[in-house]
Amino acid sequence: MTEAVYAPSAEFAAHAHADKATYEQMYAASVADPESFWGEHGKRIDWITPYTRVKNTSFEFGNVNIRWFEDGELNVAANCIDRHLETRGDQTAIIWEPDDPADEALHITYRQLHENVCRMANVLLSQGVMRGDRVVIYLPMIPEAAYAMLACARIGAVHSIVFAGFSPDALANRINDCDAKVVITADEAPRGGRVTPLKSNTDAALLHCSDKVRCLVVKHTGGQTTWVEGRDVDVKALMATAAPDCPPRPMGAEDPLFILYTSGSTGKPKGVVHTSGGYLVYAAMTHQYTFDYHDGDIFWCTADVGWVTGHSYIIYGPLANGATTLMFEGVPTYPDAGRFWAVCEKHKVNQFYTAPTAIRALMGQGPEWVEKHDLSSLKLLGTVGEPINPEAWNWYNEVVGKGRCPIVDTWWQTETGGHLLTPLPGATATKPGSATLPFFGVQPVILDPQTGEEITTTEAEGVLCLKDSWPGQMRTVYGDHERFEKTYFSDYKGYYFSGDGCRRDADGYYWITGRVDDVINVSGHRMGTAEVESALVAHPKVAEAAVVGYPHDIKGQGIYAYVTLMNGIEPSEELRKELEAWVRTEIGPIAKPDLIQWAPGLPKTRSGKIMRRILRKIAEDDFGALGDTSTLAEPAVVDDLIANRMNRH
Ligand code: WTA
Repeated sequence: MTEAVYAPSAEFAAHAHADKATYEQMYAASVADPESFWGEHGKRIDWITPYTRVKNTSFEFGNVNIRWFEDGELNVAANCIDRHLETRGDQTAIIWEPDDPADEALHITYRQLHENVCRMANVLLSQGVMRGDRVVIYLPMIPEAAYAMLACARIGAVHSIVFAGFSPDALANRINDCDAKVVITADEAPRGGRVTPLKSNTDAALLHCSDKVRCLVVKHTGGQTTWVEGRDVDVKALMATAAPDCPPRPMGAEDPLFILYTSGSTGKPKGVVHTSGGYLVYAAMTHQYTFDYHDGDIFWCTADVGWVTGHSYIIYGPLANGATTLMFEGVPTYPDAGRFWAVCEKHKVNQFYTAPTAIRALMGQGPEWVEKHDLSSLKLLGTVGEPINPEAWNWYNEVVGKGRCPIVDTWWQTETGGHLLTPLPGATATKPGSATLPFFGVQPVILDPQTGEEITTTEAEGVLCLKDSWPGQMRTVYGDHERFEKTYFSDYKGYYFSGDGCRRDADGYYWITGRVDDVINVSGHRMGTAEVESALVAHPKVAEAAVVGYPHDIKGQGIYAYVTLMNGIEPSEELRKELEAWVRTEIGPIAKPDLIQWAPGLPKTRSGKIMRRILRKIAEDDFGALGDTSTLAEPAVVDDLIANRMNRH
């Protein structure tokens, strides 16, 4: 079978920021001399004090150091707002589309954004938030989430957004880990016609936190909430009386902008630290080139601001570019499966960026939901978060894009700040399922996982690493630089290790094959299997648990849990439900196991190590190829697991 290849149309290429020749020339320049390349492109944002040093980075284990533009000073919020006021003060910065389509959408201009962010910044200052203090944001997808992020940036506070789907326990852990001074939440988060009680979740979380933590509440739905005098603050009321102006504070390029917790293969979630200058340059530049964003375009990224995609491509990248960015409170299937397309039609969206899991789910609802809507405004489609299967790619291309919109499949991570592998739509011929080629300045390499050697042939398969730094790279793990070095720089010395497996084809295109560590990707959400396991074993009836991923038609991967119960506890449907509910409260709904298998024992080596490889195979219903089982302590355990497997084809 010949591989499908989709070349950019001559017309698209003619108007694009980069055609093939431009990409090739700029890419070559970016890796030949990163200092000059980024020295030049760093100027795309405004600096209060211009930098003289561009790059100061080392991937050497034990000595990892990543600094960009380090002697420059800037303010990120001023770059996202103030510098646009003169030329586009009355242009819409944010279109806000509410959960319920019957409610009114908002069009927030750059001038209004400026005023609201200043008011919010003054509220934070009035609550004693100072430069460098951490502010946890636990909000729905409402404009106040954007105001809060930018208000922090304006006064030099460091935000840490916790996705509104996380449980009180998860919220408390994050507030404590970063020692936040303030948490900003709302009364309730409406999504798909239902509400999540964010304020009561926050109340529950704060029982486990220092009583110095202030709770700023956005009254969004007006739902009834309990109120703790002296701790709880009505944000909107304070914003209304706060001064509408607040000078942006000059910050060092390497001052932290935000912390975002993400799952790894071991231990509790890590606080990924991004800093100000390099991150903003990189988010803005990738937003412009990858999506071929032009002035006046309406850009919609459907992610939640609780994930890195929302940080870089709803807020920081687009606003730094003076774009109009759409923020959607709802879900793709409410009030019906045509909502995404209704919103595209209503707001004349030009670039649409979503996750393969959403595409697969909507594909299952049939093309009629798309065909009802006029999608002629769309110029480009994008995907992120997981590999896209060719069926979903073709459907996206034909049914949504009508064969005329290039698709950019963007590979990147919370750690990378912005796209690393991606087509540029006017430059790169695409192949369904491939994230294609590196962005400017990005040097991917494929290593042999056994030897750690670089595979230098064009065609290669192994683990994906990066050879040198790019400005958007994370700088450290909050409060634990050693963990940062150990996680990303210790397995393959001298490289940043992504945790992903990858194949490079004869054309030099990259194909991500999935995580090679114990991280799974459920509906584009990253989940550490260890986190789900520790939630399960915290249940009094559970003796032991092992969690693996398995292929899931809609979610990409589902969560498969093997659970060994305490002596004397009998498995039951009721207990299964109890464990599901338990994980929901320990972590959140996204971590709920899809399948739970009662396991009288787990396959272990004689030294007691769980053989996950075998558990993965059984969960995949592929136990014909279990590989070497000679080191198993009790081979009979495996026969029982196979006989009672939950995922049968
Ligand atoms: C996976 C999301 C294939 C990958 C921005 C990565 C992808 C992890 C793609 C990061 C893609 C992301 N194709 N796999 N286009 N994009 N991934 O930190 O395994 O939530 O390591 O960042 O998602 O997930 P994270």
